[in-house]
Amino acid sequence: MADQKRRLVIAIDGPVGAGKSTAARRLADALGYVHVDSGAMYRAMGWKVAQAGVDLRDRRRVAALAAETEIRVEPGPESPHTLVDGVDVTALLRTPAMDEASSVVSVYPEVRDRLLDIQRGMAKEGGIVMDGRDIGTVVFPDADLKFYLDAALTVRARRRLHEVQQSGTAAGLEAVQAEVARRDARDRGRETSPLAAAPDAIRIDSTALDAEGVLGRMLAEVRRFLKPDNS
Ligand code: DC
Repeated sequence: MADQKRRLVIAIDGPVGAGKSTAARRLADALGYVHVDSGAMYRAMGWKVAQAGVDLRDRRRVAALAAETEIRVEPGPESPHTLVDGVDVTALLRTPAMDEASSVVSVYPEVRDRLLDIQRGMAKEGGIVMDGRDIGTVVFPDADLKFYLDAALTVRARRRLHEVQQSGTAAGLEAVQAEVARRDARDRGRETSPLAAAPDAIRIDSTALDAEGVLGRMLAEVRRFLKPDNS
């Protein structure tokens, strides 16, 4: 399928732990497309704010910092790398501190606008799968295909717990579930670009599906979309 002439823009949105990034990476690999994890860009912005010693709640200073920060996502040998002002911070982004920092800074419209420009710039040639919270609604409202991936809160919390434990941090399921619910509420409740399914998104519930199952469903939709009578 990678040699299909049309290179699509594909959006994947959903809450924490729904499996978006894994699905986006595998779908991009299967199609020979670029994968962009927009959450990593918000994490990178959170990292910059922490690094600069700026209070996350100080919107004015966070906005000023965002305006002068260069964030880039570049292909790596295994997975994409995230660079902040030319420094590769990929390995520093998936920590509980950056979960929180990214969740807070992503509420600010100034931060979102800054990243929006960068995200749109990456899709000019098509051939991209981007995952996040507002990709199908705000970043690419005209995306060729939109998916909204969701799963039961308990299942998402268990997946997140597994990730946290793998990164070497001790954590309990109850605390992680409360944390996931809190971040979801912040994402859904913010004024600018809240987490939502686009009306034309294809919904997939991954509660009882593994990564292979999700990929299969997505590839079937891509094939359907690329049928000659559809392009
Ligand atoms: O997907 P993630 O957990 O890596 O995202 C980190 C934070 O960034 C999350 O709290 C929500 C925010 N985010 C966002 O607001 N919009 C996006 N398109 C992607 C992530």
